[in-house]
Amino acid sequence: MALLDKHALLERNATLLLAGSLLVVTIGGIVEIAPLFYLDNTIEKVEGMRPYSPLELAGRDVYIREGCYVCHSQMIRPFRDEVERYGHYSLAAESMYDHPFQWGSKRTGPDLARVGGRYSNEWHVQHLTDPRSVVPESVMPSYAFLKDKPLDVKGFSTHLVANTKVGVPYSDEMIANAEADMIAQADPNADTSGVEARYPKARLGDFDGNPQALTEMDALVAYMQMLGTLVDFSTYDEPAGRR
Ligand code: HEC
Repeated sequence: MALLDKHALLERNATLLLAGSLLVVTIGGIVEIAPLFYLDNTIEKVEGMRPYSPLELAGRDVYIREGCYVCHSQMIRPFRDEVERYGHYSLAAESMYDHPFQWGSKRTGPDLARVGGRYSNEWHVQHLTDPRSVVPESVMPSYAFLKDKPLDVKGFSTHLVANTKVGVPYSDEMIANAEADMIAQADPNADTSGVEARYPKARLGDFDGNPQALTEMDALVAYMQMLGTLVDFSTYDEPAGRR
């Protein structure tokens, strides 16, 4: 009875109730927040992740500019239906170099987190040029104009520099070679040893079907083809305590 009386006092006195509520919220807050101060990083390191190559980064810029994220997510949730359709669920580390991340919040079209390597370059170019020629019921708009837009290479290294400001580990060497790497990655006749050393697993060669010109289509397709391909899930060790 005594306890009930005390609680009645708390309930009838607004100031006491406020003070009591604040105390409870503070304790709850500290319990949740304090452990974060003792963690170096909440993102587990995963083998294979590297910053985007300059060409992929340029393609990502096109992806953002054209609003692809309005219809496409890049976030496979750990549900059976998603994993069976799209592949291994997305890891936090897979978007650690994304500024801003492209998780998206709406799927008018399919998730693209692991679309890399699923189709040929030709398929992507055909699909982006005229989606209904390959998927008759598609409601996706055409992006044919990207084939005619020359890629803006000059001064691209500043994009890499900007990314270093938010923690992406581009080295001085990567920054110095940014423009040359961008051209080399999409040129079937170029010496690509530098690109391959700096950006393992980067897809090389002409992407847009026109080796003579470096276009925004090249960049966008290079970006599509690398999505979800960096982490090798056949050797990925699930951290203990997870499924
Ligand atoms: C208005 C919504 C919309 C926008 C904007 C849009 N898409 Fe799509 N996208 C779709 C739909 C719907 C599909 C499924 C039908 C199809 O394959 O065309 C699709 C399919 C795709 C696929 C095939 C995925 C798969 O797994 O089969 C790719 C790749 C793709 N879109 C890339 C893009 C890119 C890149 C952009 C931006 C340049 C973009 N989309 C913009 C709606 C959209």
